Amino acid sequence: MPCDKLKMICFSPTRTTRRILDAIAEGIGAEQLEVIDVTRADRVPETCECLDDDLVIIGAPVYGGRIPLTAVERFKVLNSCGTPAVPVVVYGNRAYEDALIELSDIAVESGFKPVAGAAFIGEHSFSTDKTPIAVSRPDEDDLNMAREFGKSLAAKFTEASFDTSVEVPGDRPYKERSPKVSASPITTDQCELCGACERVCPTAAISVGAVVETDPAKCTFCCACIKVCAFEARKLEVPRLLEISQWLTDNFSERREPEIFI
Ligand SMILES: Cc1cc2nc3c(=O)[nH]c(=O)nc-3n(C[C@H](O)[C@H](O)[C@H](O)COP(=O)(O)O)c2cc1C
Repeated sequence: MPCDKLKMICFSPTRTTRRILDAIAEGIGAEQLEVIDVTRADRVPETCECLDDDLVIIGAPVYGGRIPLTAVERFKVLNSCGTPAVPVVVYGNRAYEDALIELSDIAVESGFKPVAGAAFIGEHSFSTDKTPIAVSRPDEDDLNMAREFGKSLAAKFTEASFDTSVEVPGDRPYKERSPKVSASPITTDQCELCGACERVCPTAAISVGAVVETDPAKCTFCCACIKVCAFEARKLEVPRLLEISQWLTDNFSERREPEIFI
């Protein structure tokens, strides 16, 4: 049986998860591809029925070894009845800990049947010139692996061997979430008030008028605003996060490779 109808559902503030999912979808080469990107609150559909899809790929980044709470909330619109699903997490070269098993459990709770899974590496959201972490990942090697993974999924589909479910690493109960730091990136006077940061913020924490205002209670430090700014006007000047960035650079610079479970 060929995989004709593919659905891709993702949460991806700095787009590394999205790039991996696009490459997997390319490898699968389904006739129809529907993309549901829930990164922005105003793009989340009221419900997302996945009843007549052949295969669904669900992707999210890793925050503190878990799936970000914003993504957990947004994935609640998903609903299926036994459709094969592939949970995919993307992490910043430190560790993915319980994120993949959590995403797999979310898929099961929504009615999917996880048939494969993967953990890929993306440039760390906190990476800067001073504290580089997994810079420019996913790179061409990662994207080729993602395409190959897609091809193996398509082959597995044709063999009709999607009856078997897959085990992915991780512990239950999942590790505790890190406590929320009430702060946000700052805006320097290089800002041109173009509004790009407001448009990419997944939690609508930023409003751009005569000045840029950021609500620290809503900010999740996803760093989408920093990465999108063409004027380099957004900075992560939060002391605790700068310490973490330095620790990541010092201890997690050795290249990690993607892991595939099929
Ligand atoms: C708040 C926060 C927590 C993070 N925690 C982890 C982590 O526990 N392990 C890790 O390796 N990377 C971690 N990262 C890095 C992201 O997982 C990584 O940059 C990922 O590629 C971002 O995905 P996106 O581009 O789809 O937003 C974290 C990033 C943020 C913003």
